[in-house]
Amino acid sequence: MTKTRAAITAVGGYVPEYKLTNKVLEDMVDTSDEWITSRTGIKERRILKGEGQGTSDMGAAAVEELLKKRGITADEIDLLICCTVTPDLVFPATANIISDKVGAKNAFSFDLMAACSGFLYGLTTASKYVESGQYKKVVVVGADKMSSIIDYTDRTTCIIFGDGGGAALLEPTQEECGIMDSIMKSDGSGRVHLHQKAGGSVKPASHETVDAKEHFVYQEGQAVFKFAVNNMAEVSAEIMERNKLKSGDIRYLVPHQANKRIIDATANRMGVGKEQVMLNIERYGNTTNGTIPLCLWEWENKLKKGDNLILSAFGGGFTWGSIYLKWAYNSAN
Ligand code: UT7
Repeated sequence: MTKTRAAITAVGGYVPEYKLTNKVLEDMVDTSDEWITSRTGIKERRILKGEGQGTSDMGAAAVEELLKKRGITADEIDLLICCTVTPDLVFPATANIISDKVGAKNAFSFDLMAACSGFLYGLTTASKYVESGQYKKVVVVGADKMSSIIDYTDRTTCIIFGDGGGAALLEPTQEECGIMDSIMKSDGSGRVHLHQKAGGSVKPASHETVDAKEHFVYQEGQAVFKFAVNNMAEVSAEIMERNKLKSGDIRYLVPHQANKRIIDATANRMGVGKEQVMLNIERYGNTTNGTIPLCLWEWENKLKKGDNLILSAFGGGFTWGSIYLKWAYNSAN
């Protein structure tokens, strides 16, 4: 019997207009364009401005673009998963809100939280629903309004993160393409190095938690960097070996955009050259769940049916993983 796989059949993306440049950050904290560029590769990031604007607005914009490209209506969506660490509200799920905003009346929807690896966890989860044969159109959104949890007086984090998001539509295919393999991992002992201290059930919001700035991202940069470099490189090499892929077989590495040095180390371990790496960190910084779908969105026109892609991420949790994806269509543009 032919195997049913889940193939990406359309992508959408959204980045806010406002650009927060390194130059502007130089006036906000004790930093320099030179330091940020050499240590991270980031030049600017986008910030979502405007009262009442949240992650769902970026997610909904990305989904609407994807529907238009695919020529389908929102009520055809069976399932919508939103991967985010900055939900509009603690509950209900941002996925429910996105479904409402786009008019996905027939979809069930839920959020998935795996920090920067969220979109890969989401794609893997969604692929199983599609492979089961029960769901034909599944949308995975990866979006974050990181500016809502960043302390803009903390130079170690405010230079890294930005806002944005993207979405991918998964549909069944009997062809030899789509999500071919995935390796997902987590290690919760890593939570001490990267987390948000308050606002959860252990430490609910209070005047004290606000005064102590505990609703912002807390990151021990160097520790996270070491784990990220090792694990993202290793899992990327592992998925290549398991699928007997040589570096020349890879059209693109699609890495989470946390730090250009982590991406370079992963590319080196895989033996792929610069021209085989999707990189937009210089323009968007780290948009957490948004980085990988935004890359697919920006590179869509360059992708051809049959191209082999390796998607790789590392993030808070710790969580990390890789997906081997065979691209399923030639872009109409
Ligand atoms: O996406 C989720 C997962 N997150 C990641 O993968 C992030 C991983 N970590 C990193 O990308 C890097 O660790 C950072 C970019 C966060 C920091 O870079 P680093 O090369 O590890 O710097 P560091 O923390 O070792 O700091 C080196 C120096 C320190 O000064 P001293 O102690 O040597 O005097 C910092 O205080 O750089 C200082 N520093 C800065 N200087 C100018 C830290 N941030 C800044 C800054 N501007 N923005």
